Amino acid sequence: MKRVAILISGGGSNMLALVRDMGQGAHPCTPVLVASNDPAAAGLARASALGIPTAAVDHRPFGRDRAAFEAALLEPILAARPDILCLAGFMRILTPAFIRRFEGRMLNIHPSLLPKYPGLHTHQRALDAGDTEAGCTVHEVTAELDAGPILGQARVPVLPGDTADTLAARVLVQEHRLYPAVLRRFALGETVPLMLA
Ligand code: GAR
Repeated sequence: MKRVAILISGGGSNMLALVRDMGQGAHPCTPVLVASNDPAAAGLARASALGIPTAAVDHRPFGRDRAAFEAALLEPILAARPDILCLAGFMRILTPAFIRRFEGRMLNIHPSLLPKYPGLHTHQRALDAGDTEAGCTVHEVTAELDAGPILGQARVPVLPGDTADTLAARVLVQEHRLYPAVLRRFALGETVPLMLA
């Protein structure tokens, strides 16, 4: 059984999708920790309600000292002894030193069809570019932002009249489908990317 820690910053809907899937029979993973850089993240209460240990390490007191923030964040993570780390709407950029520690076992979900639109405001950028499709990507985390090996993607159409919000909502539905499916495959050693329509 692979032990999975999930890092969140907000509502944690992707975290919930992962946890729910791990609760299904014959899953190769079990959730051991949900941690956040924001003590007020709604996802922390949701995880607690499901009986999953949680940790909050507020990044703000650390100012620009990312290394000190990460050292504090690392404490509960290491105590939980995860085999796999899943970033699920975790909105802090991690340093190469942190990433190196979990090399080959850290996943992220990003709301665009990478390599298009790394970084922020992905949906608005897709709309501004006149794209006819959008989607989400699960990838391995490497030191370069949103650029690690792609493990899976799901696509949605961009519809007439879409705003960044309506497009984000359509993509999010697919995120909840894609991330659990990719985590299962990753835990089983499957590295061929999963491409969902
Ligand atoms: C998701 O759409 C996720 O793809 C995105 O944040 C949202 C978190 O929602 N992640 C990023 O933008 C990472 N750069 P959630 O908290 O409900 O899972």
